[in-house]
Amino acid sequence: MPATPSKRILIRGGQVVNDDRAFLADVLVENGLIKEIGEQISISEDGQIEVIDATGKFVIPGGIDPHTHFQLPFMGTVSIDDFYIGTRAALAGGTTTIIDFVIPPKGQSLVEGYHQWRKWADEKVCCDYGLHIGVTWWSEQVKADMETLVRDHGVNSFKMFMAYKGSIQVTDSEMIGIMNTCREIGALAQVHAENGDIIDENQNRLIAAGVTGPEGHPQSRPEEVEHEATKRAIMLADQTNCPLYVVHVMSKQAAREISDARREGRVVFGETIAAALASNGSHYYDKCWRHAAAHVLSPPLRRDPTTAGALMDLLSNGDLQTTGTDHCTFNSEQKSMGKNDFRRIPNGINGVEERMPLIWEKGVRTGKLDVTQFVAVTSTNAAKLFNIYPKKGRIEVGSDADIVVWDPESCSTISAAQHHTAGDFNIFEGMTVHGGPAVVITKGVVAVRNGKVEAVKGSGRYLETNAYSPAVYGRINQRAKIHKWEKVERS
Ligand code: URP
Ligand code: ZN
Ligand code: ZN
Ligand code: ZN
Repeated sequence: MPATPSKRILIRGGQVVNDDRAFLADVLVENGLIKEIGEQISISEDGQIEVIDATGKFVIPGGIDPHTHFQLPFMGTVSIDDFYIGTRAALAGGTTTIIDFVIPPKGQSLVEGYHQWRKWADEKVCCDYGLHIGVTWWSEQVKADMETLVRDHGVNSFKMFMAYKGSIQVTDSEMIGIMNTCREIGALAQVHAENGDIIDENQNRLIAAGVTGPEGHPQSRPEEVEHEATKRAIMLADQTNCPLYVVHVMSKQAAREISDARREGRVVFGETIAAALASNGSHYYDKCWRHAAAHVLSPPLRRDPTTAGALMDLLSNGDLQTTGTDHCTFNSEQKSMGKNDFRRIPNGINGVEERMPLIWEKGVRTGKLDVTQFVAVTSTNAAKLFNIYPKKGRIEVGSDADIVVWDPESCSTISAAQHHTAGDFNIFEGMTVHGGPAVVITKGVVAVRNGKVEAVKGSGRYLETNAYSPAVYGRINQRAKIHKWEKVERS
């Protein structure tokens, strides 16, 4: 279905919401950009303009999901949502920008990996996308590749894996090299924080004890394992004066570690994901293998039922900054690779389509977030950290016309029978969510209307993310300038 090629759109009478204020105004869109914002914008009704009535609705910046894995080669298979299906599902849920991860295998050039992902994504994406790069090994060549990616390819963030021993895990000394390089080139270091060595040990002990089902997964990676790695990563980043972004924070302990570090002045940021805010780890103990395996991701969902509410509270008070999804879907057949051994269940869950309605339901409807905070944690904060603000993440004249007309009164029930991803399971099955996108506009083109997705394959663009994000590097640069080692002069 082709997208409506509307050159000009007027969004009438909605409540425009940015992260810092909300006000009643019309929004005029022209040639992919926001052209004018004001009360009662007058237009000549010459048929060249589409008018969207937003009365009683919010007009918000399109969502930014800073954590997806579309068509990711991982654990012996490839995640089933490619860049077309994945970005289409994103749009269906009100997300108009995604940032995916290049994860080159150990030994592969990072620049080569980047070009591979660009090739996969460019011809398929229905919305704009950026790329983080996984640094899965370390050498002088890797360092040079990081420099090239920042200088020539619009990359400003690099992820390190402290888990996945034997494949993409890096050591502390490698992390120090990677963090030093990030600081030298103005990039944001990201970390998957779990202690891979102890996970490996626990996994072996569980298998030896005959625990082969999905319930072995969370038992091999308890909260302490995420907590310890989070604390260690923060310490390493602080010692190297490198800004740190902890991806997929899944537990209260890890989240509070970040919160404490921020209160002690560390330059650290935390991202949690839709699944952690709306589900929990009880599912691993479900009698149905398929059900339990569908929830396997790392770090795992936590069995503590207070986790989701606590993470939302931390988003609300600014201790955590962003919400992603870690969208990385595998169907039941792929999951069944681990039928007899939970270590072989491909790690990943859905969420890119459900993230915004779920956060509305669990955050705004519960009174934990107001509507400006909703915009901050679903869009603006990510735009600032990854240096694409105010092009993205803001309703402002000159910004990209990535806009969602959000209906706070809509009501739907999540189901695999209706979702837009290729997965045959939805971990949010049966949840009723109030609030959702009535209209989604990407770069000035209507992509979703009344639940119908009209996204165009290949219409999205690669988004360059520049180094030295002011939201990240303002403090780092000043600290580097004033830092002095203490030396005692002795005769
Ligand atoms: O289980 C997960 N999270 N799968 C995707 C890879 C990662 O660690 O982000
Ligand atoms: Zn990860
Ligand atoms: Zn079942
Ligand atoms: Zn991930």
